[in-house]
Amino acid sequence: MGRIAYDAATAASFRQAREIRRDGLRAWEDAVRRHLTPVLGMTVLDIGAGTGAFATAFCDWYGVRVVAVEPAAAMRALIPRRPDVDVRAGHAAALPLEDGSADGAWLSTVTHHVPDLAAAAREIRRVLRPGAPVLIRNAFAGRGERLRIVRWFPETARLLATYPSVEQTCKAFAAAGFTPIALEPVVQRDIASLTELLDRVETLRTADTLMRSLTDEEFARGRRRIAAAVEAGTATDLTSSLDLLVLR
Ligand SMILES: C[S@@+](CC[C@H](N)C(=O)[O-])C[C@H]1O[C@@H](n2cnc3c(N)ncnc32)[C@H](O)[C@@H]1O
Repeated sequence: MGRIAYDAATAASFRQAREIRRDGLRAWEDAVRRHLTPVLGMTVLDIGAGTGAFATAFCDWYGVRVVAVEPAAAMRALIPRRPDVDVRAGHAAALPLEDGSADGAWLSTVTHHVPDLAAAAREIRRVLRPGAPVLIRNAFAGRGERLRIVRWFPETARLLATYPSVEQTCKAFAAAGFTPIALEPVVQRDIASLTELLDRVETLRTADTLMRSLTDEEFARGRRRIAAAVEAGTATDLTSSLDLLVLR
């Protein structure tokens, strides 16, 4: 299912290279709070929950209960088990939940893996109570300029161009009765220095769908660019942004 197989090796790399420390996610904590308007104990559905980084963060930040739906057994196995996170097998177009049983849905870097976004939108409509928001955190086709990976490895833009665009995503969700409410780039601080990026870049190549699309030569070129900037002590923007698209 999806563009890459999330097997045990990929799952371990994902946790090591892609999970962002909580202090690097402050802007995300604020942005989600504004759009989800969390209430203690409400049920948030995390679709394609991966290794559970956001599921556990949402419980800690907002005191909500999260149903973490994840199709890959190897990713599911790494989701921390705790009473406020209910881990279930399933996927975006087959959600193991009752009709109208969730107060919000979260999809983080998942929409480009979903083979039929319109079917997923219909299924999300079924399980959400009326008026509940869908929050999509993703890189969208045509909006890669704030992605650090694209700055250092420009050839990743090739694959990004095949991701669902904002327009395609909104169209799929509109057919299921959702209206777009907001679209905003949100900053994350996932590295403290370029040296850290250089240290992580091999693992990222396994864990990141865009990075996996590079040829060996493209990867080596980008790595050399980072190494040269580290060597020269070049001042560089350490932040990266993904978009938050909200629909209701
Ligand atoms: C890049 S990871 C993101 C994990 C997590 N949401 C995060 O941001 O840390 C993408 C996840 O989507 C899952 N996935 C792939 N196809 C899916 C589908 N059709 N429905 C739901 N999740 C899917 C993968 O198994 C993987 O765990």
